[in-house]
Amino acid sequence: MKKKVLLAGLAAGAMIIGLAACSSDTPSGTAGGAGEGGLIGVAMPTKSSERWIADGDAVKSQLEEQGFKVDLQYAEDDIPTQVSQIENMITKGAEVLIVASIDGTTLTSVLQDAADANIPVIAYDRLIRDTENVNYYASFDNLKVGQQQAWSVLNGLGLTELDGTATADAPAGPFNVELFAGSPDDNNATFFFNGAMQELQPFIDSGVLVVKSDQTNFNTVATLRWDGEEAQSRLENILTSTYSDGSKVNGILSPYDGISRGIISALEGAGYTVDAEWPVISGQDAEIDSVKAINSGEQFATIFKDTRQLAAVAVEMAVAVLNGGTPETNNTTDYDNGVKVVDSMLLDSQIVVKDNIPSVLIESGYWTEAEING
Ligand code: GAL
Repeated sequence: MKKKVLLAGLAAGAMIIGLAACSSDTPSGTAGGAGEGGLIGVAMPTKSSERWIADGDAVKSQLEEQGFKVDLQYAEDDIPTQVSQIENMITKGAEVLIVASIDGTTLTSVLQDAADANIPVIAYDRLIRDTENVNYYASFDNLKVGQQQAWSVLNGLGLTELDGTATADAPAGPFNVELFAGSPDDNNATFFFNGAMQELQPFIDSGVLVVKSDQTNFNTVATLRWDGEEAQSRLENILTSTYSDGSKVNGILSPYDGISRGIISALEGAGYTVDAEWPVISGQDAEIDSVKAINSGEQFATIFKDTRQLAAVAVEMAVAVLNGGTPETNNTTDYDNGVKVVDSMLLDSQIVVKDNIPSVLIESGYWTEAEING
């Protein structure tokens, strides 16, 4: 664990130096900047998913390393709690807010209060919608994440390589697939689903993939709060209503590891076993239990998004705005929050399958071998 923290610190440090070097508006050497020693409010959605714990820890420790005080709060997926936590941060005199929203549409009023107090806001991983009072957005290329989720399923079925290119001698199918999307109030969920459908639709149109339940509409396949149990019961219903004729589901598009674990439970409950008839299941976040499930063959793939790097970007943005600078961004067109297009810094994600767990997750220090095999 110590090693992980150390590596995380090194990676973050390298990232900050790298970003500062790229941005002419960012003062060189952030320590000693105007905001040093000030309070920064960090609002995270929930501790029930381990990725947000890692995100919160990484943001906090990286800010503290630079001399800031940090008010880090988790809202257990309860919207009023998140709103009042942000209200408190404003009252306590936070100089910047870094916010991973629960429902991206519910912060309009509290962020008006932040604006009235001249507090800049950075949207962390999830876009905050319906407000002009969000200054920057730090995230991943979310459409690409969705494509990677689709390529995971397609690759597991033998239809494409992991980068989406067609395989020679691809099987003709038809393969039965079922689709899951994330929380409809999270802007990312639409991006993931649209990216995935962009890749899956041609195979559905040609009859190679069949969504046997006919449930293809985003609102029908969405999973409120990314809740694994909700996904489990939706799949249980589908297996009963659609697959009781003895047919099997061959592939399942899942947008998040917690949903994938619900899917696995539903399959086990319906008598599926990890053998040739076990479906190909995607995921996201490289959560430890799901990395273990990839090793054991229950889950085919996950999408690795390095939370240490995301934290470094958000921290760099916070420090830059505090110093009156302009943070580095690489996308100024795609993230329209309903009121304005928010300047964004989007990081790359990677597909993780069993074979590249060592090179992607262990060598980067994200997980140790002992954590994965323990
Ligand atoms: C999304 C995020 C995903 C996943 C999901 C559930 O906003 O981009 O990586 O963590 O929330 O927590």
